[in-house]
Amino acid sequence: MALLEVQKLSKHFGGLTAVANNNFVVNQGEILGLIGPNGAGKTTIFNLISGFLRPDQGTIVYKGKEIQGLTPHEISRRGLMRTFQTAQAFPYMTTLQNVMVGGFMHDRNRKRVEKSALETLEFTGLVEQKEKKAENLTIGDSRRLEIAKALAGRPSLLLLDEVMAGLNETEIAEAVELIKKIRDRGTTIFIVEHVMQAIMSLSDRIIVINYGRQIAEGSPEKVAKDNRVIEAYLGEEYVIE
Ligand SMILES: Nc1ncnc2c1ncn2[C@@H]1O[C@H](COP(=O)(O)OP(=O)(O)O)[C@@H](O)[C@H]1O
Ligand SMILES: [Mg+2]
Repeated sequence: MALLEVQKLSKHFGGLTAVANNNFVVNQGEILGLIGPNGAGKTTIFNLISGFLRPDQGTIVYKGKEIQGLTPHEISRRGLMRTFQTAQAFPYMTTLQNVMVGGFMHDRNRKRVEKSALETLEFTGLVEQKEKKAENLTIGDSRRLEIAKALAGRPSLLLLDEVMAGLNETEIAEAVELIKKIRDRGTTIFIVEHVMQAIMSLSDRIIVINYGRQIAEGSPEKVAKDNRVIEAYLGEEYVIE
């Protein structure tokens, strides 16, 4: 079943076509990958879906209702949350306080919000850092915090935008495990990632875009063998294991 369906989605910035007539679905319960070179339009697609940009054309149907034109706040209240490529945490607030900010969107009761935020910190492996200011977290932990903040909104659909950029191998493996755990708990995931072994092992399906256009779609094995994908993005040296 489609949780999200995008039809004829387009976005231009002046003369630049960032997203050109995209059509795709995100199915309930899946991990869908979105890959493509820098500047291909991946973040723009996330901005359109999450309401930070308005499409020039096209519809975005989430849980059976059109959401294009709604504000980011209205969209996140419906359970569609996203992370940002650059950390958005309040640097002088603690890890716990940052997660509570997300929780207040659903609930005004401080005790309940705190309890739920602590559960989210436990779930994301951050509970021991709860009193630490966000600015003092390691890169790995600040990425976890980005995810934790989004989870505090109790998403049905979570958009993850390059949450593994700059992480070391151990941190990448931990991030992969966390993302699997989030899906297993019932959240559908749409993920943009350049770390190939991570996106290939996580995704049920992958969409590949180049210059705003969809150039391939299918299983990780299928897209990794696609000549257009190799040419536009992966390079000849990439071999799937
Ligand atoms: N707000 C904006 N104003 C003008 N151009 C933008 C804006 N956002 C993105 N772009 C341009 O749109 C294209 C797609 O960008 P983006 O979606 O960030 O790519 P990706 O996330 O795939 O690297 C790029 O050429 C980028 O420079
Ligand atoms: Mg991007």
